[in-house]
Amino acid sequence: MEYSYYNPTAIQFGKGQIKSIVNFISKDQKVLVVYGGGSIKKNGVYDQVVSALDGYTWSEFSGVEPNPSVETLNKAVEIIKAEKIDFILAVGGGSVIDGCKYLAAASLYDGDGWDFLEGKQVEKALPLGAILTLPATGSESNVNSVISKKATNEKRYFGSPLLYPKFAVLDSSVMSTLDDRQLANGLVDAFVHTCEQYLTYPNTSLLHDGYAQTILKGLHTLAQDWSNRKTELWQENLMLLANQALNGFIGSGVPQDWATHMIGHEITAFYGLDHAQSLAVVQPHLLRVMIEDKQEKLTLMGKEVFDMPHNYEMVIEAIEYMYQSIGVPTKLSAYKTDDNVISNITKALESHGMTALGEKGNVTLDKVSRILTMSL
Ligand code: NZQ
Ligand code: ZN
Repeated sequence: MEYSYYNPTAIQFGKGQIKSIVNFISKDQKVLVVYGGGSIKKNGVYDQVVSALDGYTWSEFSGVEPNPSVETLNKAVEIIKAEKIDFILAVGGGSVIDGCKYLAAASLYDGDGWDFLEGKQVEKALPLGAILTLPATGSESNVNSVISKKATNEKRYFGSPLLYPKFAVLDSSVMSTLDDRQLANGLVDAFVHTCEQYLTYPNTSLLHDGYAQTILKGLHTLAQDWSNRKTELWQENLMLLANQALNGFIGSGVPQDWATHMIGHEITAFYGLDHAQSLAVVQPHLLRVMIEDKQEKLTLMGKEVFDMPHNYEMVIEAIEYMYQSIGVPTKLSAYKTDDNVISNITKALESHGMTALGEKGNVTLDKVSRILTMSL
């Protein structure tokens, strides 16, 4: 096994931590506070940010939408350049934080920021920090950013170590205003993130497997304990589990899949499903199509996560049941699509060079067609 692992984001965990952002931003930095459609004004988060920034020079940019678009974000790039902003403060879920990573890179770049989504390396970036309001993506302490372009129905990703937030505030009391749909989305997204880095083929690290299994078990426990989802204990656990699922460690040095994500991103780009909804309609069917390759890890997962030591096929059903039990459908037919869904998705994957997905590069477009057909 061989890897290098580095994660510099300071985690500020627990109630009342929003005020600690002053320890990471100096008073001579001009701050841009970036948020989404306004949920932060309903749960006291905005007020806490305003009070923490007392004495700072700051301004705000709102309206970053779920599945953030380059069209909206480029308006903020103009503001950052014109006002000579030095620090970007993301206050929101994965969309706002991903959007801020784009802003951090695009604001110090002379060309079109979409270039980063087409493979250009980030050479410099403004510093950013994150106040997380929706545990799901892990974006608050990772290097990834997923950005959409409405004009072309595209949803693509980029990343750079320069985009690690300086800090991530994880105060679960901000989750009080999350509805069931977003709580379930967060749980499913974190579960699939862990699977993408675990449910592949055997590796040699007991620690990586054990850590991933603990995250999966924790998320499964939260699904079983869904009736307590409004409690502090439940929400605090989801916040930490989702963070650890995609902060880079469990994937370091081990095979990784990500086919479910790549297919799911195209589905969202065309049909607007929430990110986690798109994963739940792909993953169970992908696991069935790829069952021979994944048999050993499914068996391990059955034993360690679901207490089902003998039948690895049942593990896929257990995953599917878990998503359904918290209200997330596992069939594409639950959503509005059209007759072209399979060709739209496979063509988009092809045009993005994603014709050999998965940990072995053997999730080809014909397999994607089979997966989507099973989901209809
Ligand atoms: O915009 P506001 O008004 O804040 O409302 C948001 C939004 O409508 C709302 N919300 C957030 N916190 C809330 C709240 N509502 C009430 N109370 C709160 N405390 O929730 C809605 C969805 O927010 P969004 O940020 O879109 O959700 P999520 O965190 O699931 O992020 C999804 C985005 O992240 C990308 C996805 O593709 C998608 O674009 N991902 C990013 C990853 C990464 N950076 O590593 C990895 C993931 O796999 C994923 O692809
Ligand atoms: Zn995800």
